[in-house]
Amino acid sequence: MKLLIAVPTYNEIENIKRFVITVFEHIPDYADILVIDDNSPDGTAAAVEDLIRNYPNRLHILNRESKQGLAAAYLAAFEWGLSRGYDVFLEMDADFSHNPKYIPEMIDKIETNDVVIGSRNISGGGVEGWSALRNFISKGGSLYSRLVLGCPIKDLTGGFNMWRKSALEKINLETISAKGYLFQIEMKYKAFLAGCSITEIPIIFTDRKQGKSKMSKGIFVEALINIWKIKSNARTDKGSFEFIKFAVTGGLGTVTNLVIFFIFADLLKLPEIPVSICCFIVAATQNYIINHHWSFRNRTESDKPSIKKWFLFIVSSLLGLGINILVMRAILTYFNVPLKLIAQAGGILAGMVINYAVSKFLVFRR
Ligand code: GDD
Repeated sequence: MKLLIAVPTYNEIENIKRFVITVFEHIPDYADILVIDDNSPDGTAAAVEDLIRNYPNRLHILNRESKQGLAAAYLAAFEWGLSRGYDVFLEMDADFSHNPKYIPEMIDKIETNDVVIGSRNISGGGVEGWSALRNFISKGGSLYSRLVLGCPIKDLTGGFNMWRKSALEKINLETISAKGYLFQIEMKYKAFLAGCSITEIPIIFTDRKQGKSKMSKGIFVEALINIWKIKSNARTDKGSFEFIKFAVTGGLGTVTNLVIFFIFADLLKLPEIPVSICCFIVAATQNYIINHHWSFRNRTESDKPSIKKWFLFIVSSLLGLGINILVMRAILTYFNVPLKLIAQAGGILAGMVINYAVSKFLVFRR
């Protein structure tokens, strides 16, 4: 495992040195720290650069030109780490509100999960040092988000989270649209929708003793509204209507099949069986290409069509055809349907469902 601890900083001069030293005391030697500094006027970056001499190859800094917010800082860190072969990422504040003592347990849990969330809202977790108002707003915000999104994660807003590379890939970071603190919610919601295995461990969040929070009151109001945007964007990304698109694609394939069959078997009088086989291959290839670029677009964004996947799709289509024939025969045998067409329609539906399931979970799996 190669773990990158991503630490965004803006004006953390009072915390950063002690923070880095303390974190290094709690992490294994396969873990590195990346500080993402947005040109803090207080000289945070210079302090980190000073420390890099003590931790060569293990402490890194990403200097950015201006303050671009927490979300942009984390996205830049993920990109930086992914391109350097890190396979696990930890998000962590630089102000000791996230205690480094929890890191070993998070590492332990990430062995068997895609995402580990340091949670204030489960038994054993909590917050120290917040006013009753901020506590109320935070708890209310988490509950409101859970209800709106229908997402079971208890701490949706917290910023102490560990991600496997595979989870970041499933989420597809390019689709993350939230800019500020909503980023945490959007990431977790998308991980949930993508079927990642997510676990929460209890943490006590301790409010910072040094420096100031950069969170403003306006952010909460903005979040109340924008959570709905996250919900609708994530749904579109998830690829609703996939099955309908798949069915339409299958319909187009059938038309192609019949047209080619008519030309070669009826007009040119070639033998039906070889013509039928060719029709099947051409139509299934057309379906594969349309499904790749349209029906399952959300699953194939980073892939190109390939011979291997095409072949799997042909096998899946043959399986669908086999099921179609079996179900049609079964309906004719066991039910007294007035028209054979009804049995064939049932067979087509069953074959299509099987073909869809195999395509979704095998051929075009994320
Ligand atoms: N690079 C960069 N750019 N870092 C930033 C920026 C920015 O624009 N804004 C804040 N940070 C850094 C801070 O320096 C700190 O290390 C960390 O991000 C958290 O910032 P705070 O401003 O201290 O956050 P908070 O305590 O109010 O919020 C925390 O709790 C929230 C949930 O209640 C964070 O953990 C949030 O992620 C979390 O949503």
